[in-house]
Amino acid sequence: MLMCRRWLVCSMRAHYRSFSFSASLRNVMPAWVIDKYGENEVLRFTKNAALPIIHYPNEVTVKVHAAGLNPIDISMRGSYGAATMAMKRDPLNMKQSGSEFPLILGRDVSGEIIECGLDVNYFKPGDQVWAAIPPWKQGSLAEFVVLSANEVSHKPKSLRHVEAASIPYVAATAWSAIVNTGGLNKDNSSKKRVLVLGGSGGVGTLAIQMVKAWGAHVTVTCSQNAEQLVRDLGADDVVDYTAGPVEKKLQTLQKLVFDLILDNIGGESEKWALDLLKPWNGAKYVTLVTPFLHNTDLLGLADGMMQSGVTIGCKVLKHLRKGVHYRWGFFAPSGPTLDEISEMVDAGKVRPVVEEVFSFAQVPQGFQKVEQGHARGKTVVSIIEDEKE
Ligand SMILES: NC(=O)c1ccc[n+]([C@@H]2O[C@H](COP(=O)([O-])OP(=O)(O)OC[C@H]3O[C@@H](n4cnc5c(N)ncnc54)[C@H](OP(=O)(O)O)[C@@H]3O)[C@@H](O)[C@H]2O)c1
Repeated sequence: MLMCRRWLVCSMRAHYRSFSFSASLRNVMPAWVIDKYGENEVLRFTKNAALPIIHYPNEVTVKVHAAGLNPIDISMRGSYGAATMAMKRDPLNMKQSGSEFPLILGRDVSGEIIECGLDVNYFKPGDQVWAAIPPWKQGSLAEFVVLSANEVSHKPKSLRHVEAASIPYVAATAWSAIVNTGGLNKDNSSKKRVLVLGGSGGVGTLAIQMVKAWGAHVTVTCSQNAEQLVRDLGADDVVDYTAGPVEKKLQTLQKLVFDLILDNIGGESEKWALDLLKPWNGAKYVTLVTPFLHNTDLLGLADGMMQSGVTIGCKVLKHLRKGVHYRWGFFAPSGPTLDEISEMVDAGKVRPVVEEVFSFAQVPQGFQKVEQGHARGKTVVSIIEDEKE
């Protein structure tokens, strides 16, 4: 009987949807797309991008109000990760190469649910939501995006869409690196010492606030002109990396030893950073700058993954002998993670750090801004000028 009622509600909803979703009366939408990989010139605005449709019962369609930009958008525009993304989109390798085009970039979305698949119970049309979009899916620089409901979360009530769009991708990355890989969480972080290498950009500004809210002592490296920003976000100690060797300053800074290092910079830093960890205490170094996608782009999937496996294996073992843990951190899309971040935002523990907002017409300028580097928080694209905002 219950099953019957559930089926009835679902089919009524489906019936309602097919008449209520005005976008379904058309099959195109405005979007920024790329038709090939390259520099900024490959970005093309079109009013005729294919309207995304729900294929699975757990999917939702989101009307995009604002989209966040991240360094990965710049990298993907230039083909970074193409081999791995192609495998995720087409695991059986049935499609021709280039079938990903026209490709829509943009990993952050804040917007409104306009349609739900039959199995979606947690959301309904009209819900204000945010999400971090997996890089193998079409992105948010468009009027609509289709996502799995488990990638989506109710956006913080206290934020406007342009503010909310600055958070999901960096929050999901910081959470994955700090909680899933680094082992810290709200219950075990007090009295822990965390070092954030590169605290002034998207991931860093979020990571500082997260671990500070959980009671950790936070040391941050950044440029001198970002010191006030990271202190305002909760950094206890700040080291200016532009004023001489940062590792020397960190070593002398009250002889700090860290329980967790989050590395947003990579390169040389992993040569010295692990020496700053508390040995034989479960302390971890988690770097977000990994060669994983570069390897698969360069060597193909199988060899690239094998190469990555060998590299990480050697590094883990080398550092394990010294009593510290070496890890790679990765972005992981997750609605439930964003639910937790949403609560932290509405509780005033995490705030958006929006450096610049571009209009939908200015997407190429937004890409230029991110590509120039020196981020102080996030760059956002406002897609719908919402009078309520
Ligand atoms: N593995 C993954 O899944 C994953 C996911 C997300 C991000 N990432 C990677 O993580 C890194 C950080 O991402 P993001 O979004 O935070 O980048 P971002 O917004 O561009 O921020 C990078 C920040 O680092 C600062 N910086 C540059 N060199 C530095 C140094 N030597 N020491 C300290 N600070 C330095 C930059 O400012 P100044 O140059 O002015 O100092 C900027 O504020 C990127 O490399 C990104 O590709 C990886």
